[in-house]
Amino acid sequence: MLRERLAEANVAYHERDAPTIDDATYDALLRELVELEETHPHLATADSPTQRVGAAPAADFSPYPHDVPMLSLGNAFDATELRAFDARVAKLAGVAPTYVCELKIDGLAMSLRYERGRLRSAGTRGDGSVGEDVTANVRTIADIPATLRRADADAPVPTVLDVRGEVYLTKAAFAALNATREAAGLALFANPRNTAAGGLRQKDARATAERKLSFFGYAVGRFEGALAPTTQHALLATLGAYGFPVNERNVACATIDDVIAFCERYERERDDLPYEIDGIVVKVDEIALQAKLGYAGKDPRWAIAFKFRAQEARTTLLDIGINVSRAGKLNPYAMLAPVTIGGVTVKMATLHNEADIVRKDIRIGDTVVVRRAGDVIPYVVGPVLEARPLDAAVYAIPTVCPVCGSAVDQPPEDVFSYCTNVSCPAQLRERIRHFCSRGAMDIEGVGDAMASLLVEMGLCHTVADLYDLDAAALSSLPRMGEKSVTNMLEAIEGSKSRGLARVLASLGIRYVGGQNATLLAGDFGSIDALFAATPERLLAVDGIGAQIAESVSFFLAQPQNVAVIERLRANGLDLTAPLRDKVQVGAFAGKTFVLTGTLPTLTRDEASERIVAAGGKVGKSVSKKTDYVIAGEEAGSKLAKARDLELTILDEAGLIELLGAPIV
Ligand code: IVH
Repeated sequence: MLRERLAEANVAYHERDAPTIDDATYDALLRELVELEETHPHLATADSPTQRVGAAPAADFSPYPHDVPMLSLGNAFDATELRAFDARVAKLAGVAPTYVCELKIDGLAMSLRYERGRLRSAGTRGDGSVGEDVTANVRTIADIPATLRRADADAPVPTVLDVRGEVYLTKAAFAALNATREAAGLALFANPRNTAAGGLRQKDARATAERKLSFFGYAVGRFEGALAPTTQHALLATLGAYGFPVNERNVACATIDDVIAFCERYERERDDLPYEIDGIVVKVDEIALQAKLGYAGKDPRWAIAFKFRAQEARTTLLDIGINVSRAGKLNPYAMLAPVTIGGVTVKMATLHNEADIVRKDIRIGDTVVVRRAGDVIPYVVGPVLEARPLDAAVYAIPTVCPVCGSAVDQPPEDVFSYCTNVSCPAQLRERIRHFCSRGAMDIEGVGDAMASLLVEMGLCHTVADLYDLDAAALSSLPRMGEKSVTNMLEAIEGSKSRGLARVLASLGIRYVGGQNATLLAGDFGSIDALFAATPERLLAVDGIGAQIAESVSFFLAQPQNVAVIERLRANGLDLTAPLRDKVQVGAFAGKTFVLTGTLPTLTRDEASERIVAAGGKVGKSVSKKTDYVIAGEEAGSKLAKARDLELTILDEAGLIELLGAPIV
């Protein structure tokens, strides 16, 4: 509709010279369309008025001819194709070439013209020979210098220099922009690339400035009046010396094996980068050799783009299901027509929460975009509105728990709903599994499968029933021989003396894991003192915030929960704890620890528990204020940051040593 009105107005204005709407209305409509296409990129078509150069007075950017064309790149999709590229280059060159690998930033190619060191003009790539002049907008980009820096006082600055590179939006800038838009009730932008592209096409440069665009330099067009570098890696260094940001992850590679290793590494690590990349650009390093290799049609023979596997695909949303979590949270998930993403078949994806379904207007029957990135659980990005079938159904949020039929609570300020029944069977299996897990009561032999069996066979209706299990009941279960039965009974018996902190952590109270449980147990010393505590008293515990206090107070006020705890007591569980001031506080009281990676023997909860018990604090993120970082296997960015900040890094053995004798 919008597009048609604009197209008609275009014809009236340009061809019939008889405008049907005034300029301001036209501008407003066009701006609306630009925004719509940014938030829903699939709506942008090649013939859209937003794509037509010179179509409209408002979005009219003058043509920007490129003296040296801006070319595209051929693609390689796997290691074999990279090797074929290498073989081709070696054959034509007659020598074994060396390469430079550069991250392929998902942004917009830009050409910046500097004359005698001053930025004169800037244009988009367009069709490669003519782009659009976006000089005023480009001047607002902080990364782009208005004048070239001189490497040293004597070095001449080129008389004419075209710097080519990518204008992009960092993930952080994109998220901040969308947060502002969400707060203002505006539609969200779909992805950083489109937002960057839209940012450059603003009529008012102030609007471009608001998008906080960034830039990386990686090539040149004309280069006159100074000695041009003879290799790509020297060229990158020169661009850096002139004052352009150059990606510090770019590397020179001596062999194609190194190139392949680099490509594979960043395909794995792409999600950890602060900007989006969609591949690696591989360039022959010697510029003389580049010239010799030349071009095959539009693509250079001396460079290739290694394209990562897509992280997104479209498929049909068949239905929406609900999982009820251990804490009673209703988690909506998408049932999808199977689709392959990055080599894996995806049939289910998370829909995050109900509020998200409403906000994104996701309907059953819609074609949806599904994203699967790294280790992240696949999720539904949003619907493809143009493909919406007439019978697409608005999802009705359940008002009763889909598992047990109890009332559902939808706390204001919360995007989730919760089942109000703690003995809801959906929660029970999870609650039992959690209750028996290592960081909790640590009852060996009760994992997922056993927890399901106990519930299905009617042996456990609450976690307290675990302590009523006897040999007769256990031997009735499939694959439970005499030995397994004895072991499990012993494990159950052994768990009775773990103490209050572990019991609290085992109950599945919202926000109460090992760390908060230890704080509460150490402060109150017994379950009776906790039962008697008001929310205000709970809040007085150092480290316990309002949300936690509220949650504990609510949990302990529910008669079903009190009944479960009383049965645990009757079964002989120790529901006391040493008070904190009586606890041996280590020499490291008041110190902050951050845990990262997997420790060889302790779970994360166990490690936190010991630290807190010794007076330390466990933080989530590494900062200058962190005293110790405890790193296990596959520690990631936190470890890297700790190294950057030169913090004390310990392994598990180091932690145990630091805390003195293990605290039981
Ligand atoms: S070089 C002949 N280097 O990828 C050389 N391009 O498919 C042509 N891109 O239009 C470009 N990072 O928008 C080059 N380090 C990089 C790049 C890069 C991203 C984009 C650029 C270009 C497209 C080519």
